Amino acid sequence: MPGAGMKSTEANTVNNAEPFDVVDIIRTKRDGGAWKMEHIAWVVDAYTRGVVSEEQMAALAMAIFLRGMNREEVAQWTGAMIASGSTLDLSDLGKPTVDKHSTGGVGDKVTLPLGPLVASFGVAVPQLSGRGLGHTGGTLDKLEAIPGWSPEMSTPRMKEILCEVGAVVAAANADLAPADRKLYALRDVTATVDCLPLIASSIMSKKIAEGTSALVLDVKVGSGAFMRDVDSARQLARAMVDLGTDAGVSTRALLTDMEVPLGRTIGNALEVREAVEVLGGGGPGDVRELTCALARAMLELAGIRDADVEGALDSGRAMDTWKRMVEAQGGDPAAPLPVARHTHEVRAERAGYVDALDALALGVGSWRLGAGRARKEDRVQAAAGIELHVEYGQRVEPGQPLLTLHTDTPERFARAEEAVLPGIHIGAEPPAPRTLIHDVIS
Ligand code: URA
Repeated sequence: MPGAGMKSTEANTVNNAEPFDVVDIIRTKRDGGAWKMEHIAWVVDAYTRGVVSEEQMAALAMAIFLRGMNREEVAQWTGAMIASGSTLDLSDLGKPTVDKHSTGGVGDKVTLPLGPLVASFGVAVPQLSGRGLGHTGGTLDKLEAIPGWSPEMSTPRMKEILCEVGAVVAAANADLAPADRKLYALRDVTATVDCLPLIASSIMSKKIAEGTSALVLDVKVGSGAFMRDVDSARQLARAMVDLGTDAGVSTRALLTDMEVPLGRTIGNALEVREAVEVLGGGGPGDVRELTCALARAMLELAGIRDADVEGALDSGRAMDTWKRMVEAQGGDPAAPLPVARHTHEVRAERAGYVDALDALALGVGSWRLGAGRARKEDRVQAAAGIELHVEYGQRVEPGQPLLTLHTDTPERFARAEEAVLPGIHIGAEPPAPRTLIHDVIS
């Protein structure tokens, strides 16, 4: 293998119509050298145009994975991904805009109550979301469990809903950061997803292109998240807050726990049901607490201090906005949600305290029941998932129900149980309490 100072044997790949040679750009990063800023703009653009091949971008992504990128490089890379497509202009809405992005967790249905809650204070919340891949569910998959609801709409219609209702959840348009769409699919099959500068630039390119003027990031930490420990999550949060701030978007990040699932349900329709409970002033304490903390942060960035967000949930004001949002997107908020054809209970084998309720194990279990997809083309089951009957730290007795597994295809129960059982542990002593919000980065 040629090392530093050795002559490269690669074929000359220079395309005379192009200003740079991608092999030089890959080699520079591979060897830990410094890129010129124009290299980055060119390589992202040339990849989008198909001039840089998938193989070359795979090598470059791995070089970035191994060598990293400095702050200037990440900012330039993010800018190039934004420039690969179109951007939305929301400045004519006549109200402040603020969005939230979660790095992905198990049972994380917070987007559903959060948008209407924040919008009920007169702020526009333009959520452009995707479908889930792997063990974390996608917001669109969850909302599509509501009969009639659709995320497809034109940009003028999206703006109309933002003006009239204040909250919308729309499918991200294919022309929003297309370089990221292509690169994310490539990273998925080249073991380069869990790379801090690539995650930060991928998320922030889409959020900046969406045109929001403020953004709150929910950076998840724990077994069910990309970032397994608080220090790595803090670094990711710092990188994203810097990218947002440098691009003129007021950005704040909350680091929140994802060692255990959020709330008592995992899976699309089950999570919608729980989100509606929160909108009605009830629901599990952790979902309500996180929804309110994120809402307060969003409203502060939009210039509204000391908002009574709990009051807006308890009074039904946020619920009214939710119903209007669902109706504006073709859904019937009063329609019954789909129910799985088969259920299976998992019970405690001994007495003690629940000292492990592993988010990753339960996320994989729900996915195996049919709530998630392995490939982009797969269909999800709206009613599949897991209902938790116990919380972390709770005392249980032998035979007490711990979980109910839901699916339309009962042959999935065995594989789902194989995934969830090692993630649940009952110990003799009560475990140390968990913290839901670890830190705030601004
Ligand atoms: N979500 C994204 O949009 N991009 C990543 O790279 C990781 C999570």
